[in-house]
Amino acid sequence: MAEKPLILGIETSCDETAVSLIQDDGSGIPKILSNVISSQFDIHKEFGGVVPELAARSHVEKIDLIAKKAIKESGISLDKISAVAATVGPGLIVCLTVGLNFGKAIASSLNVPFIGVNHLEGHALSPKLHLKLDYPYLILLISGGHSQYLSVNGLGEYKRFGTTIDDALGEAFDKTAKLLGIEFPGGPKLEKFAEKGDPNRFELPKPIINKGGCNLSFAGLKTAILRIVKKIKTEQEKFDLAASFQKTIEEILYTKTKVAFEEFKKINSNNNSSFVVAGGVAANKGIREKLIKVSNENNFNPIFPDLKLCGDNAAMIAMVGLERFKAQQFDNLDLPASPRLPLDKSAKFLKGAGVKL
Ligand code: KG4
Ligand code: ZN
Repeated sequence: MAEKPLILGIETSCDETAVSLIQDDGSGIPKILSNVISSQFDIHKEFGGVVPELAARSHVEKIDLIAKKAIKESGISLDKISAVAATVGPGLIVCLTVGLNFGKAIASSLNVPFIGVNHLEGHALSPKLHLKLDYPYLILLISGGHSQYLSVNGLGEYKRFGTTIDDALGEAFDKTAKLLGIEFPGGPKLEKFAEKGDPNRFELPKPIINKGGCNLSFAGLKTAILRIVKKIKTEQEKFDLAASFQKTIEEILYTKTKVAFEEFKKINSNNNSSFVVAGGVAANKGIREKLIKVSNENNFNPIFPDLKLCGDNAAMIAMVGLERFKAQQFDNLDLPASPRLPLDKSAKFLKGAGVKL
């Protein structure tokens, strides 16, 4: 095995074309030599969501350029690469195929191992890109495509405690923002709106709050908002609705996280376990504060990784590639893209669970 394994990671599961190079320098935290991300935000903005065919076309157009940029920034030559890791699923099949084929082609031409990576595993291991973290730990992944509580017990060992049964949390923020006339992706601006409003003005539902373990549901909330929006007349009422939405989400996550902590403690007895919150929605200040509060109350150590590393990126794919390389777990070049690939294979498939559609 190479002395300091060097992994090329590729991510094209949805609307980010990303390539990264990371190297195990023996310090326990891999060195990120480059982490290039090209977002397709402008392409999909006018449609209010990701359009698969347009996303795939853009990946095809850009992947070459992004890879060249990542290799140049890393300052290494291609022949030093130990293995190539590319996202195999879950995600949009037309998008996954672009990065997967590109990765296989590089691995084959360099004659190095190829590793197909589960995108969710990338998120789960992403905190290890900048801190030493012992297994097991609990992770809450809240982004535009995923909302899940996962126990990360070791490489390839994941237990899903809960997931959304309808919309992802970021999606709920974006859809609510759209109803309030905020452009896509509206999550961050909705948070700003909320700061100017009265959180107690509107009573909103908290779907499955007292049932379904730590599974989540946000669709009913959106329906309630649609009903209220139709009656709203003033700008202040919009701020009040945003604030009420924000408060409701905070309360849902507070309650559900407590349930996830209990589930985690049932299978792991150590005190002061780490609770990692990853994904774009983790940028939300109110949500952060609430999750820190519930962690402190329950003896968990809250960790919010750098957003650049817990949103979609290729360094996290390379991170899984590195662990798999060290464990000598490789894939064949005929590995197909897997749009609904689960992380915890024993977990029941729930509609929309962790898959951006
Ligand atoms: O992980 P991420 O960057 O990318 C993908 O999901 O691909 O997450 C993006 C999501 C979007 O839905 C966005 O509206 C939401 O995270 N988001 C936020 C905030 N910042 C980003 N939602 C609420 N409050 C925020 N401050
Ligand atoms: Zn993701």
